[in-house]
Amino acid sequence: MKLGILGSGSGSNMQAILDAIDAGSLDAEIVLVLSDNPGAYILERAAKRGIPTALIDCHGFKTKFPDEAQTKTAAMLKEAGVELVCLAGFLRLVKQPLLDAFPDRILNIHPALLPAFPGLEAWKQALAAGVSETGCTVHLVDAGMDTGPVVLQEAVPVLPDDTAESLHARIQVVEHRLYPEAIAAVAGA
Ligand code: GAR
Repeated sequence: MKLGILGSGSGSNMQAILDAIDAGSLDAEIVLVLSDNPGAYILERAAKRGIPTALIDCHGFKTKFPDEAQTKTAAMLKEAGVELVCLAGFLRLVKQPLLDAFPDRILNIHPALLPAFPGLEAWKQALAAGVSETGCTVHLVDAGMDTGPVVLQEAVPVLPDDTAESLHARIQVVEHRLYPEAIAAVAGA
């Protein structure tokens, strides 16, 4: 299964996918890593592994993912032979035409128990809401914000002395195990 990864930040989830591939628990190959953020560490991680990388030019828009950029992204992924697209900390909303190019073949990892707390910094939303548990979800991407069908999700307790950082760190430990499992499930389906 040839994977294309889209990320805007550190890329620890991509690293977890690479680790699962190395360990033999995920039969896949990351063939292309794309980022909308030229300074994203995910690009460095990929380059260190010799994985091809490229930038997604969003023409100065801070949060929008313009149609033209989505078309170019789809073309780069197709050209690399990508079969499954994994959003790994990618902070823009994917819509057509990228969705049309990979129907039911785009996964996202989200740091909450969807449908609770969609959108940005979901761990902070959970903390502010005072819930006793949150978690993480891997889901298929549709045109909504964090609304597609759930592939796997797992709860993480919110502890009384949690800060935003400590809660996100604990969620990430689970994310790093869950994402490779979800990719394997989708790839084998
Ligand atoms: C992860 O916690 C991921 O769930 C979250 O961004 C982080 C990226 O970390 N994604 C979202 O909030 C998407 N709405 P990483 O770059 O170290 O994998």
